[in-house]
This record gives sequence, structure tokens and C-alpha cells, in this order.
Amino acid sequence: MERELALEIVRVTELGALASSHWIGRGDKNAADDAATTAIRSMFDSVAIKGTVVIGEGEMDDAPMLYIGEQVGDGNGPEVDVAVDPLEGTEVVAAGLQNAQSVIAIADRGSLLHAPDIYMEKLACGPQLAGLLSLDDDVKTTLNKAAHHLGKSLSELTVMVLDRKRHAKLISDLREAGVRIRLLSHGDVAGAIAAALPDSDVDLYLGSGGAPEGVLAAAALTCLGGEMQGRLLPQGPFEQQRCLMMGISDTSRVLSQRDMVGDGDVIFAATGVTSSDFLSGVRQINKDYAETHSVIMRAQSRTIRYIRSIHYLPSKNISTPQPQVVEQQAKAI
Ligand code: FBP
Repeated sequence: MERELALEIVRVTELGALASSHWIGRGDKNAADDAATTAIRSMFDSVAIKGTVVIGEGEMDDAPMLYIGEQVGDGNGPEVDVAVDPLEGTEVVAAGLQNAQSVIAIADRGSLLHAPDIYMEKLACGPQLAGLLSLDDDVKTTLNKAAHHLGKSLSELTVMVLDRKRHAKLISDLREAGVRIRLLSHGDVAGAIAAALPDSDVDLYLGSGGAPEGVLAAAALTCLGGEMQGRLLPQGPFEQQRCLMMGISDTSRVLSQRDMVGDGDVIFAATGVTSSDFLSGVRQINKDYAETHSVIMRAQSRTIRYIRSIHYLPSKNISTPQPQVVEQQAKAI
């Protein structure tokens, strides 16, 4: 993949973020997701790739756009797999909270795992711990190994975890070990990335979240030289069957970063919709201009490039609800 492709991909996440930002704090997660999906789908037409969506908005029957297997791009460039989450953090945007982004990863054709939309147990860490930890270890062993290799005491370790009831045992084990916990309300791609950024105060990301988000995080961590491990957590026979259909027969096996992303080049781009640890969200400057912050990374070079863009909105192909509709809604309230 040519390095220029990274800039093309970030143009796509920028448009997704701009489109969904209209819906920040409006209580409508589906509208926010639809806006990002429509914008991203249309922008892909101008990108020079022969892309196949392997992680997207769902199966063809359930998703009108960016469904699994859909061909994207202008058909002229390299053959690539595309993993896309037009809006990672739909509820976050609806509630006007932090940590939502538009995210895309691309890699050589056949390299990204077709992860079913089920939960995945995850472990993510930065370059200093890559290759040294195992999801098969219990939490205490993982923490002791991490502390040892980072030259820290347990009380100096910071672990990021999604704030969920299902993590009660994990959180109590972490408390017992004396580490610092940073709880996330949503957005575990950003959480996993936080564990691998050179200037982050997070040492580890643990816990379960969406499997598709796991593959996106694995792509980002490949670019950062960190490591992501995952284990699919199918709930019942239907989800087991989904794993089988995606070609995963042994769901108890720990999936390595290589299993999820392959060993070729990967490009990862994300644009903040609402702010996270490492990306500011969309800022509406005035009626005509908005500012976005994005990150682009490439596995081959491991450069982390931040891009601040000022967009002239009238030139963008973004459909937002007409003012009279919004006014009518206000009157109705
Ligand atoms: P959505 O974009 O689908 O809302 O996902 C947000 C998210 O927080 C993901 O980052 C995470 O993997 C998943 O939800 C966790 O799922 P749950 O909210 O069911 O714990």
C-alpha cells in the first residue's frame, strides 16, 4: 500500500466525524450512526482502492451500507480489507459524552479477521510489554509481569477498563492488587490505543468489549508496536454458529495480533467526534467552518501523525436535518 493512501483514508474518517457531530447530545444514536455511515460510504468512492468491507455495519441483510462483503473504493488501487466503524461510540454521541471517533483500518486483502459482532475478551499493551503477556494468565500474574517489565510497582500501574457490571470481578481483582483503574464509559478502541501510545499514562487495557472493535484496536496497536490479544466470547449456540461461519472453529483459543491483522502493512485512521485522551472532538467554529483532529498511523513506518483540519462546510457533502425541522421539533417540545 502506498503511504499516500493514509491521507486518503483520513479524509474519509474526517467526513464521518463531521457528519455525526451534528448529533452530539441529541439523544439519537441511530441518526448519529446513519449520518457517519452515509458520509463515509460516499467518501470511499473517491479513494483509490479495491476494498472489501470485512468489519462494518453488519451483514448485508441488516445494513444498507458498509455491510460485510461490500466493495468500496474507486476500484483502481490495491486490493485491501477494510475495517470500518463510522461511529465508534454511538451512545456516547447521543449522550454528549467523551470518547467517540470515526475509525477505519485497511490492510492487504485477506489479512483482517472477519470477527463476528459478539464480545471479545481483550488485553492490550504498549511496545515495552509486547510479546511478554498472555491472555491465558490470571489477572494477578498479568499485573505482576507488567509491573516487572515496566520497572514499576503495582501501585504505579494504570489499567483501563470499560465500566460494566460484567467486569465486577476484574475490577475487584485490580483493586485488590492495588493498581490504579481508569474506567471508561464507552469506546474501547480508544481505550486499547491509550495503552500503547508513547505519551499515555495507561499501561494496560483489560476486559471485554465488541469483537469488531477488537480487530480495529489490533490494527492500531500494530501501527504503534504494541500488542492486542483477544478471545471470542460467544454467548450460546447462535453466536457459536456465527463464529463458525466466520471461519473460527476453536473459540477458546487466544487470538494473536497476527490472527487479527496478519503480518503485512496496515493503515489506521481515526477522527475524534467527541474528545478522548488522544484526540479532540469536532469543534464547530461557526456556521461555515468546523475543526477536526485525527490520527493516522502506518505499521510499516510506525509514525504517529496528528492532523488538525479546518473544514469549509458548504463544500462538504454532508446532509444534516433542515433548520425548519429542528425548529418544529423545538416547538413540539
Ligand atoms: P457502539 O459504537 O456500538 O455504541 O460501541 C461502543 C462500545 O463502547 C465499544 O467501544 C465497545 O467495544 C462496546 O461498545 C462494548 O459493548 P457494551 O456497551 O455492550 O459493553
